[in-house]
Amino acid sequence: MHDTIRIIEMGPRDGLQNEKTPVSVEARIAFIEALVEAGLRTVEVGAFVSPKAIPQMVGSDQVLRGVSHLAGEFHVLVPNEKGYEAARAAGARTVSVFAAASEGFSRANINCSITESIERFKPVLARAKADGVRVRGYVSCVLGCPFDGKVKPQAVADVAKTLWDLGCYEISLGDTIGVGTPLKAKEMLRAVAAHVPTENLAMHFHDTYGQALANLYAGMEEGVRAIDAAAGGLGGCPFAPGATGNVATEDVVYMLEGLGVRTGVDMQKLLTATNEMSKLIGRAPVSRVAAALNAKKRATNKE
Ligand code: HMG
Ligand code: MG
Repeated sequence: MHDTIRIIEMGPRDGLQNEKTPVSVEARIAFIEALVEAGLRTVEVGAFVSPKAIPQMVGSDQVLRGVSHLAGEFHVLVPNEKGYEAARAAGARTVSVFAAASEGFSRANINCSITESIERFKPVLARAKADGVRVRGYVSCVLGCPFDGKVKPQAVADVAKTLWDLGCYEISLGDTIGVGTPLKAKEMLRAVAAHVPTENLAMHFHDTYGQALANLYAGMEEGVRAIDAAAGGLGGCPFAPGATGNVATEDVVYMLEGLGVRTGVDMQKLLTATNEMSKLIGRAPVSRVAAALNAKKRATNKE
């Protein structure tokens, strides 16, 4: 199907943005170091958003500065020019703007309509182009919205096309509440691929209903080669009621390696990164693969 797949690690941003236990800047930096050490070279490390909206991402400037010596590409979310300026001041080279395919989620998440959000992104993209900064574009709620229900593939395609035409280098398609199933994922991806080249698409699937791996496989059959995932399956969006974390990076790596796809990720090192974070937040990883490998390790140690 594919020789290689790019994994964009979401743990430090999507993973921690909804976390109730405070995680210090130092611990976030140590987590990113461990993820990079495990071979995850593209990591979303923070968000320059309102501290009232997402207090967990306060200190993203210190996190970004704290990882600048590492050999990786570090992404941060920016919702507007204010966020862009703060991200640039902290040395950001890649930023992500985030829109939605449904009005209800756009309003809940970023307090504006889809059209207004695009207007906010235009100056960000213009300045990024002048500064030589890469911009990734998210579309949320591509397979369903917690407020508006069903979302039409064409609605996703329209927003994805707008972000692509504005100059985003990659469009990440978010099943924010993890309600999608494989054929619906394919239908949505085909609608988007009519406007954005498949090689510039990424899949960002949350695993609320346990469908994320199946949906990713369906998307790979459509030719998509980039996957967003979070170590341990951490996270969720505070503005998407009931949604759980991204598909777990361990589960994705296990599936891909089983398919003969190279990921460059060292599973044992990834497990160490996940387990350290899991200790800090006081919760076992939801990743099935992490749980299985941890259980195996415990059994071996007992022998
Ligand atoms: P607003 O209230 O409409 O904005 O929020 P505003 O311009 O009226 O400003 C209100 C206050 O926020 C002001 O401060 C601004 O200075 C401040 P005050 O005067 O009240 O003290 N402010 C900012 N502060 C820091 N950084 C900024 C910034 N902008 C304004 N960039 C806004 C609009 C977008 C700012 C707000 O709604 C917000 O920050 N939302 C964040 C939402 C968020 O981060 N959600 C989670 C990430 S998205 C996600 O998880 C989905 C994704 O994973 C894909 C998927 O799964 O589908 C990406
Ligand atoms: Mg997400």
